Amino acid sequence: MEKSETNIFFKRLQDLLFEKFIKGNKERENAFKKENLINILSPGRVNIIGEHTDYNLGLSINTAINKYIFIAGYENKTDYVEVFSRYLNDSNKFSLEDITFDKTTSWINYIKGVLKEYIQHGHKIGGFSIVVDSNLPIGAGISSSASLEVGVAEFVEELFNLKVNKKETVKYCNSAENNFVGVNCGFMDQFSVAYGKENNVIYLNFKDLSYEYIPFDLEDNLILIVDSKEERNLANTEYNKRRQECNDAVQLISKIVKNKNIKSLSDISLDSLYELEDKIPEKLFRRVKHVVTENNRVLLSKEYLLKGDIEKLGKILFESHNSLRYDYEVSTEKLDYLVDEMSKIKGVYGVRLMGAGFGGSVISIVKKSKIDSITDIIDGKFLKKFNVSPDFIDCLFSDGTRRVKF
Ligand code: GLA
Repeated sequence: MEKSETNIFFKRLQDLLFEKFIKGNKERENAFKKENLINILSPGRVNIIGEHTDYNLGLSINTAINKYIFIAGYENKTDYVEVFSRYLNDSNKFSLEDITFDKTTSWINYIKGVLKEYIQHGHKIGGFSIVVDSNLPIGAGISSSASLEVGVAEFVEELFNLKVNKKETVKYCNSAENNFVGVNCGFMDQFSVAYGKENNVIYLNFKDLSYEYIPFDLEDNLILIVDSKEERNLANTEYNKRRQECNDAVQLISKIVKNKNIKSLSDISLDSLYELEDKIPEKLFRRVKHVVTENNRVLLSKEYLLKGDIEKLGKILFESHNSLRYDYEVSTEKLDYLVDEMSKIKGVYGVRLMGAGFGGSVISIVKKSKIDSITDIIDGKFLKKFNVSPDFIDCLFSDGTRRVKF
């Protein structure tokens, strides 16, 4: 996204902030100084490869993208938080003394959950007013929730001068999502949003959150996300089921092989995988197989990225999709259709479902010059088959959540 476009978003937000929270209140009008405003740009994320590996303490290659949530705000010297979302055309207000889960307005819980984490960890936070906007579609599987969480975290860190290192920020935001919002996700989303780097991807090991940046200059290519618009209804329940199956498999396997060092599925090597095949139930074996082979695909992808071999990387994306489809069973008819049809088009290197699955989006790496023909073909076919047009989001890799100064 161009700098000038970002500036337009922030300029509009600042006017809105004045309009919503300051205008007409003499005390606030007198105290208001533009230089006290904090502007935060918080990206969405893509996962290149390594799906359902984060909660299995495995590997993935992910990063932030140039689609953002924008936050502008200031300290209002009260003990409450006021929020207006331009994107949702909705507002909310709550006291910092009494942060409780809101059953009727789901989006506010991401903000509340993050603030609660900071307060519980002893950080001093006062009241503030913010306005939020976005060009990051909600529900498309590119982590608008993690983007909002890390954005709000960065906002309060800047506003109240909190000394928190980035890994802690990620942990607070992840804990907010797990414990306050009630979604049992792993670390991938918040990590990519916080740590993204332009023209790079993050090779991340979830065992200890160690990471490396790998340069990935897309050059003549683009990342194309295709949102099937299929609602991820089952996402929460089926996601938790997969997590449970993985835990069950770890228990069972560590007993069978009498190895206490197997603490997660990522402790199982590719070589020893097939020895388990007739020792554990068939479905459980397929779950294990996905995780073990997916970790291996991440390792191979890292090699291909370092060599700049985009063709091989693309092939691995297809393999990942098949594993998610047949072994992990998190795909849907619509996602499979997108992958199958896109695989037939020239200029598409690789495609796979991205995120939890059960609806949402696929990620693909495509030739920039072919983007119009790819979107035309897929739009036509998908519309004809499912009576709905998918959304196409092309993007580049971006820096992580940050404060923007003018
Ligand atoms: C969702 C979760 C992530 C991760 C993916 C699957 O996006 O939020 O933590 O588990 O699913 O890779």
